[in-house]
Amino acid sequence: MNIVLFGAPGAGKGTQAKELTKKYEIPQISTGDILREAIAKKTPLGLEAKKLMDGGNLVSDDIVNGLVEARLQEADCEKGFILDGFPRTVAQAEALDKILEKFNKKIEKVIALDVSDDEIIERITGRRVSKKTGKIYHIKYNPPVDEKEEDLEQRVDDNKETVMKRLEVYNKQTAPVLEYYKKQNKVYSVDGAKKLEEITKDIIDILEK
Ligand code: AP5
Repeated sequence: MNIVLFGAPGAGKGTQAKELTKKYEIPQISTGDILREAIAKKTPLGLEAKKLMDGGNLVSDDIVNGLVEARLQEADCEKGFILDGFPRTVAQAEALDKILEKFNKKIEKVIALDVSDDEIIERITGRRVSKKTGKIYHIKYNPPVDEKEEDLEQRVDDNKETVMKRLEVYNKQTAPVLEYYKKQNKVYSVDGAKKLEEITKDIIDILEK
């Protein structure tokens, strides 16, 4: 099961990927998480990526392609994987096809989460992440039972100004990736405005079709 979870920033890719990893026991590969780890460790790559990410811009294709190629060679990807936040440009999608070809694999389905811009802004500005578990919450839609216990933090790029920039970048550089996969008949659209559990069910129905 080699799938791509596709959607605008805040569409719910990370939230749904976590549900699917539990059900199918395959890893979530989030390029955003990998880059944030590099930032936390203050590696040279992390320091370079931080400036771009804080401003809502994309990190270079070469860097991200290299990270994904290395990650896909790890043993836990043998049974499949869920890509979250990658590919984000047509050049990344082309590179991914070439990488997978080397391993005799291919992307089977691209699940596209549809959410309006207004909803995106509300979701991202209300998002909080647990420092302890990495679990994703929303102060209104999905609050934790015990806020203190979870030790919540807000991502640096989760403010309204940066969200607007991220949406602009998404429309210009990432939306065309959907056309790339539509030509390969791999795109399945899901209404991302529904409740979390309903969306998970819709995705599972598509994956098991
Ligand atoms: P990345 O970390 O990938 O961020 P993103 O794509 O902007 O996506 P998000 O993580 O913001 O949102 P999501 O869709 O996962 O939503 P979530 O489930 O959290 O990338 C960050 C940066 O890294 C980029 O800007 C770029 O600089 C760089 N980068 C990463 N990948 C790159 C690449 N391939 N190439 C170049 N640069 C790259 O949900 C959001 C909120 O909504 C949460 O609070 C959640 O609780 C809530 N929520 C989710 N679903 C629902 C629902 N159904 N109803 C109500 N609330 C919901």
